[in-house]
Amino acid sequence: MTYKYVYLDNAASTFPKPLSVINRMNNAMRYNTANPGRSGHRLSNQNAEIIYKARKTAADFFGITDSPENIVFTHSATHSINIAINGLIENGDSVIISDLEHNSVLRPLAEREKDGMITLKIAETSTYDDETVENFRKLIDAKTKMIFVTHASNVKGNTLPIEKIGKLCKDHGILFCVDSSQTAGHLKCDINSLGADILCTSGHKGLFGPQGTGLLVFSEKIPIKPLIFGGTGGSSLMKTQPFELPESLESGTQNTAGIAGLDEGIKFVRTHEKEIHAKEKKLYGLAFQGLSECKGITIYSDRYNRTPTLAFNIGDMPSEKVTEILDSKGICVRGGFHCAALFHEKMKTTQQGMVRASFSWFNTEEQIKLFVKICRLISR
Ligand code: ALA
Repeated sequence: MTYKYVYLDNAASTFPKPLSVINRMNNAMRYNTANPGRSGHRLSNQNAEIIYKARKTAADFFGITDSPENIVFTHSATHSINIAINGLIENGDSVIISDLEHNSVLRPLAEREKDGMITLKIAETSTYDDETVENFRKLIDAKTKMIFVTHASNVKGNTLPIEKIGKLCKDHGILFCVDSSQTAGHLKCDINSLGADILCTSGHKGLFGPQGTGLLVFSEKIPIKPLIFGGTGGSSLMKTQPFELPESLESGTQNTAGIAGLDEGIKFVRTHEKEIHAKEKKLYGLAFQGLSECKGITIYSDRYNRTPTLAFNIGDMPSEKVTEILDSKGICVRGGFHCAALFHEKMKTTQQGMVRASFSWFNTEEQIKLFVKICRLISR
């Protein structure tokens, strides 16, 4: 596949997608549009089977092979996060998040705080893992119900000490929810090794699925209120929502073609896992080195980031301006504020924003060299 653009905005959504994902979705749109699992006839059953197999693929990927029912398909990471938050918090609870959170975590909680329902606390992250964990620990009190953190910043790409925060939660009997939108497909996301109770992710980023897909993963079954209520395909005579994971959280007709595509995307990652990680590391290193050799460029990301996401600015140019110039040269990156209010406040970049370049398996070294060359020209 050849495209005339250099697409370096993979942290927003990966492009292009593997051919196997495209073909699978094409096939599903031709042959699998009967309502999955609702009607009991062969076409309905066949499509329910597609969804069940995708659940098994995802369960295996997130380290819960024997519990595919703990995988819930959603429309997006934001949808998953909203289910987790609104389904679990109660009046009087306190919730702690990090200062790197995407607005998809911040806003649902800030809304509940505005309603007077919860207390929201924000832990400062540090370059030292132990200091970060200590900052979370200091905010815990008897009312702390949940810690919700991102696995990696969607702007700088740096990771948080998830395992250590997970242990802290376990020690205090606190629910631990992780947003792995920026790590699924880039890093190992075994929910139990991370120590998380719940993991939320999008399907269309590192997992190479289509937009309109997301996942909510439970390490084990916990009682949780649905965000939306309706048909679940079973217990049809009940007038209230039955609690049975995953169906109780999946009311409404499923996105069969999207889920089939996500299944194929996860399989693609699984098959090429080592090569993907090695290539992303190489491309990131090349970009980091190239930009760091240029005096006028400020890099915010770490040299050895574990995700392929690089944030920078050129002199004091507005990040949107840099993005516009790069776009005019056929290079797609994201400038501005990346739906990350807390992050830009912390970094004091609420005026300039940042330019974010994010790489994927489908990028080439030549593309990175071209990107670096144009950034250098802009900085002169
Ligand atoms: N959350 C996506 C991003 O960081 C859209 O760009």
